[in-house]
Amino acid sequence: MEEDENTSRAIPKWVELEYSHMRTLAGPSSEVHFTHLSKSSCDTLASLFAQGPEGEAAPGFAHAEGVLDYMKTKGVPLDKVCLLDPRAEKVLAPEDGDGRFEWFLFGGILGDDPPRDRTGELRVLGFPNRHLGPVQMTTDTALGVTKIVVEDKVPLDKIPFVDHPTIVFNSKESVEMPFRYIVKDGQPILPPGMREHLHEDLNQSFDF
Ligand SMILES: C[S@@+](CC[C@H](N)C(=O)[O-])C[C@H]1O[C@@H](n2cnc3c(N)ncnc32)[C@H](O)[C@@H]1O
Repeated sequence: MEEDENTSRAIPKWVELEYSHMRTLAGPSSEVHFTHLSKSSCDTLASLFAQGPEGEAAPGFAHAEGVLDYMKTKGVPLDKVCLLDPRAEKVLAPEDGDGRFEWFLFGGILGDDPPRDRTGELRVLGFPNRHLGPVQMTTDTALGVTKIVVEDKVPLDKIPFVDHPTIVFNSKESVEMPFRYIVKDGQPILPPGMREHLHEDLNQSFDF
């Protein structure tokens, strides 16, 4: 949903890290498709996906067409696509992985703080929807949580989360992330390389 940034990078670094992380979190038995991309984002993502990530990951695909056109191409009807939507009435449950849905759809949008309900742009198209609790997650976290619920059959309230964690780089530098994350070994699960990227970004912000 985002416009391309007007820089030499078609895809910002943090988006690249989140997208790769989605493939790892989805695992090799799934596919991850990114739709409605500009030509330059499509090319950048396709070459990124050709390189990695390391380990077992879902194959990634980049498409210029929007999700509705892509559904038509693949013959997938609207009621087989579950939109993950913070404002849905029903919580995502392990039964939602029993075949009633073929695809799970996430808004490719920046998480605003406070959230601006931009998932609403997809909601109006009429997809069945499910929520993952009241707190906004990063898109890779939302995908990882969906996989844990529908494939690993773990109910949402059994997954350990941390809200708005502070990432500490050293005694003087830290940053608060306005999202909910899965916790592992007492730490929020961030995409590999994100911590370093955030630290670099923080330093650049003060690099007048
Ligand atoms: C970073 S979130 C952005 C949410 C956006 N700020 C909004 O207000 O709609 C990107 C996507 O992750 C999914 N998502 C994040 N948190 C969620 C939650 N608590 N429940 C359901 N879906 C969620 C949704 O598909 C959402 O479009």
